[in-house]
Amino acid sequence: MSALEVSYECCTEIPRMEFVCYLWFSFFKYMILHAHLNGSEKGTHYALDLGGTNFRVLRVHLGGRRSSILGHDVERQPIPQELMTSTSEDLFDFIASALKEFVEKEGDGSETSLDRRRDLGFTFSFPVKQMSVSSGILIKWTKGFAIVDMVGKEVAGCLEQALTRKGLNMQVAALVNDTVGTLALGHYHDEDTVAAVLIGTGTNACYLERTDAIIKCQGLLTTTGCMVVNMEWGNFWTSHLPRTTYDIDLDADSPNPNDQGFEKMISGMYLGDIVRRVILRMAQETDIFGPVSSKLSVPFILRTPLMAAMHEDDSPDLQEVGRILRDVLEIPDVPLKVRKLVVKVCDVVTRRAARLAAAGIAGILKKIGRDGSGGLTGGRRSDNKMRRTVVAIEGGLYTSYTMFREYLHEALIEILGEEVAQHVVLKVTEDGSGIGAALLAASHSSQSVDRVQ
Ligand code: GLC
Repeated sequence: MSALEVSYECCTEIPRMEFVCYLWFSFFKYMILHAHLNGSEKGTHYALDLGGTNFRVLRVHLGGRRSSILGHDVERQPIPQELMTSTSEDLFDFIASALKEFVEKEGDGSETSLDRRRDLGFTFSFPVKQMSVSSGILIKWTKGFAIVDMVGKEVAGCLEQALTRKGLNMQVAALVNDTVGTLALGHYHDEDTVAAVLIGTGTNACYLERTDAIIKCQGLLTTTGCMVVNMEWGNFWTSHLPRTTYDIDLDADSPNPNDQGFEKMISGMYLGDIVRRVILRMAQETDIFGPVSSKLSVPFILRTPLMAAMHEDDSPDLQEVGRILRDVLEIPDVPLKVRKLVVKVCDVVTRRAARLAAAGIAGILKKIGRDGSGGLTGGRRSDNKMRRTVVAIEGGLYTSYTMFREYLHEALIEILGEEVAQHVVLKVTEDGSGIGAALLAASHSSQSVDRVQ
């Protein structure tokens, strides 16, 4: 047992500077979107946010001045499990129907004309080869989606065809990643926002880069001189990242082996399953859990919210831990000592994930010169004071899991140092991925499109 704990403790010892540098040099995938919101966007705009276990449809009312979102309506729906592995037509027809119902409720709730053309911001949070602001080709699926016929297809076109089949006159004006939507909303409210991070079902980040610092964009003129780089950091990997046997087995059993290695150590889709694997091995190698429960071999039975509930159980006798072990994993009552051990496993897995995410954020700040190093290039003003740097952040793992959030902040301070870290603000940008897409759709519906591949 202690060997297991030790191996987990080892994984939390990130060779931090080394790691940050590797991350810095490995911006291997540039998915670039010309970022341009000027604040004059107004009217009612729609967005569709697809990227995790739920999808959201949104209606956003803009007031025509910077930071003037007059209101927004959101509806969330779970994506039926079978649609995540069926055909693109099935998935998009399902989504188009939900969007149609939502549009029909526009205004006072009475039926509205579906013939009027509307623009849509489409947040599609999977790796995409961005062809223009409003189109892109799916490179591969992540986060448990596996619709084979969709890979290599133009995503906005597939959605538009489904919308037409449902009799909805809507056109995708902006196709964006969730990180890009979050950055757009963050920047709309606060111009010091330079990056956005998603830590939910999956994990990823994007940041604002000078166009002349991007090799494939040299010579391209943009209004702001900046581009948004979608890093797809979930797929970051280096042999310097210590992986345990649990990580290796989880990867091998996943629908996308050898892929999304960083994401599999950090995000909400996987953390609970890492914990399940550790408990399974403990149960097999010791008798502390009694006879090995067959439930322990069921993939993803211990979902991350359950793991968080065990981790954050503050009752003196760890009742919630006992309940989840009993009701979910069918492990009958175990002594308090063993329940404490389960909490420790949750703690180690979460702490490692949070520290890796913090290292990623520090890597971005280093790349854009906001990490305090190197004098003026380290984000200092001429009076040697640090500039304020805002990172917009979204995703249930960060917003709903207190311990994860605390470990992330702690690691960021450790990496950047107190002085620099106090100028770095991690700002939760609720519904940012969807509202940001509506903003970008509003902005781009009347603008020309840059081709950037
Ligand atoms: C996955 C997707 C990425 C997305 C992230 C967060 O890593 O590949 O595009 O941004 O999940 O949802």
